[in-house]
Amino acid sequence: MVVLTLLASLVLLLSCVDAFPSRAKGPASILPRPSIPHFENPLEGLPVVSRNGTQLPDYTHVYYFNQLIDHNNPSLGTFKQRYYHTYEFYELGIGNLSDDGVRRILGGPIILSTPGEVDASGYTTYLTNATLNGRIAQTLNGSTVVLEHRFFGSSNPYGDLSVASFRVHTVQQAVADLVYFARNAQLPMPGGDALAPGKAPWILVGGSYAGALTSYTMASNPGVFTAGYASSAVVQAIVNFWGYFEPIRQNMPANCSADVEAVITHVDSVIASNDTTAISALKSTFGLPLGHNDDFAAALLQNLFPWQSLQPDSGPNQAFYQFCDALEVQNGVSAPASGWGLDYALQAWGTYWKSAFYYQICGDDDVETCLGTYDITNPFWTYTYTGNAARSWQWLICTQLGFQQDGAPTGQPSIASRMVTPEWGLRQCTYRFPGAFGSNAAIASPNSTGINAVYEGWNTTVENIVFASGTRDPWKESTVAADGCTNAGSDSQPHLLSDGFHCSDLLIREGAASASVKSVQDTAVEYMAEWISQWKQTA
Ligand SMILES: *[C@@H]1O[C@H](CO)[C@@H](O)[C@H](O)[C@H]1NC(C)=O
Ligand SMILES: *[C@@H]1O[C@H](CO)[C@@H](O)[C@H](O)[C@H]1NC(C)=O
Ligand SMILES: *[C@@H]1O[C@H](CO)[C@@H](O)[C@H](O)[C@H]1NC(C)=O
Ligand SMILES: *[C@@H]1O[C@H](CO)[C@@H](O)[C@H](O)[C@H]1NC(C)=O
Ligand SMILES: *[C@@H]1O[C@H](CO)[C@@H](O)[C@H](O)[C@H]1NC(C)=O
Ligand SMILES: *[C@@H]1O[C@H](CO)[C@@H](O)[C@H](O)[C@H]1NC(C)=O
Ligand SMILES: *[C@@H]1O[C@H](CO)[C@@H](O)[C@H](O)[C@H]1NC(C)=O
Ligand SMILES: *[C@@H]1O[C@H](CO)[C@@H](O)[C@H](O)[C@H]1NC(C)=O
Repeated sequence: MVVLTLLASLVLLLSCVDAFPSRAKGPASILPRPSIPHFENPLEGLPVVSRNGTQLPDYTHVYYFNQLIDHNNPSLGTFKQRYYHTYEFYELGIGNLSDDGVRRILGGPIILSTPGEVDASGYTTYLTNATLNGRIAQTLNGSTVVLEHRFFGSSNPYGDLSVASFRVHTVQQAVADLVYFARNAQLPMPGGDALAPGKAPWILVGGSYAGALTSYTMASNPGVFTAGYASSAVVQAIVNFWGYFEPIRQNMPANCSADVEAVITHVDSVIASNDTTAISALKSTFGLPLGHNDDFAAALLQNLFPWQSLQPDSGPNQAFYQFCDALEVQNGVSAPASGWGLDYALQAWGTYWKSAFYYQICGDDDVETCLGTYDITNPFWTYTYTGNAARSWQWLICTQLGFQQDGAPTGQPSIASRMVTPEWGLRQCTYRFPGAFGSNAAIASPNSTGINAVYEGWNTTVENIVFASGTRDPWKESTVAADGCTNAGSDSQPHLLSDGFHCSDLLIREGAASASVKSVQDTAVEYMAEWISQWKQTA
């Protein structure tokens, strides 16, 4: 009997944990995080050899740093923050005279990056010369570090992702982590205990949210990092982030854009009519009998999100293009730029969901489980296990960043339904983090104004930082390349623009597929070399 009960509880426990990955498709993760590109480290498993022939630990070797739990209260102690490191390109050299007249030995720069809102273990490529980080190290004789962001992967100040633990999950703490690491890390390399800023030059590199952190860290802590590189950096926190869909609308095939816009206009007018029979018929065209109209409208965004993972070298066989082909190709013939029009596009889009797409994103889950967001009793919302990146990211957007991917305002063409409003997403915050926004709050109110005021957003005055943006990046409207940004940059804050997608310029192979991406990469390395050559030892 005892054995049976034990077994039963063990199975229950395992199945909760096991159930988690399949529930990652559940309601609250419906909006994609910005995230830098993930791709397999092409050099993983190969021996890593330093410039002088010494065999080094594998890229996947894990190191830990004793990071402060709370930078506002160091007496609370430390937690283990995971990081990866290599010094395969590091060279010692003779540096310039410092102010006290003593000539000291110094090597190339330390290139620190965090992959941001992900488990860092999949991002060791950012140590290598397959990425811009490693390219900079290789050119400047530097060493690379990939530091996991607090509350992601295995870097957790406390053992869970509860509201109480999230007291120390803020942009301010993440910024302070990068500074405290640079000042205190004893890097596992020759002379690694004497490389703090002042003794060695540091470069901070980041993409996407971590690109914003790069700007924020340099803005709020001058003098720590000699140079910075911020790719697709979402520096301006925006709550109603309808601009997410603008680069997609403007760069997707014209016929597909025209037809998607026509269908979405129709969907919005049917929903606005309050005609329940017509609304039900519309939902069944897609096989999506969701109880809430805004959940249905939001489900259609799922066809647009694959745009974010495109890269200049993406083949034609990507999910986004499969969707457009389904709408635009009839019997082997493509629609003209104006599309086929509403009637055909509506049926074709519905058929695409019913025949293939629903199963691709929902598997065997029923429609409310997969795409509904109103069942507050679903344990999905309140799981506090560590390693749930979607939950940790949602805390940041609910409290500080906003970034709700919504329909455009009336009068502006939109490929996203106007039924999807900031309230649709911010209501979910109160399900996920009960009590965190006041016991009666129906929606969260992220303090994006505070973030932009403290860290300067688009108007950042940081020097020795390169901002690199891509015209096809869906996050472009939050970067310094946004239409609303009046800061044009300068020679000490160059704003580089390629035809890339999200963080394309961080990946060396994307430079091979796009001349403008390659030009950004080459120019950035030149700026880094110039700024590092001006560095002087001060400690
Ligand atoms: C990148 O680094 C690897 C060693 O990690 C080296 O074999 C390769 O030649 C380098 N690639 C380039 C383009 O320098
Ligand atoms: C890198 O190291 C090599 C070998 O010591 C040296 O010739 C070169 O000038 C160094 N490059 C930089 C940018 O310091
Ligand atoms: C070069 O190799 C020696 C031992 O062979 C080692 O002590 C030294 O730290 C190495 N330097 C670098 C920069 O790898
Ligand atoms: C539909 O219902 C909403 C909410 O009850 C109401 O504000 C709106 O005027 C109605 N629209 C039409 C076309 O009846
Ligand atoms: C029309 O759609 C097809 C299929 O997605 C695409 O290959 C083609 O480039 C589009 N043509 C125009 C003019 O938009
Ligand atoms: C928003 O952030 C700013 C800057 O940190 C702060 O001064 C302000 O009190 C915050 N507002 C709220 C409502 O928390
Ligand atoms: C940025 O600067 C411009 C020009 O000075 C100003 O109009 C704008 O309000 C500033 N934006 C923010 C977010 O502070
Ligand atoms: C030393 O300083 C001079 C003048 O500031 C500069 O031209 C040179 O590149 C510096 N060298 C190194 C290795 O930093």
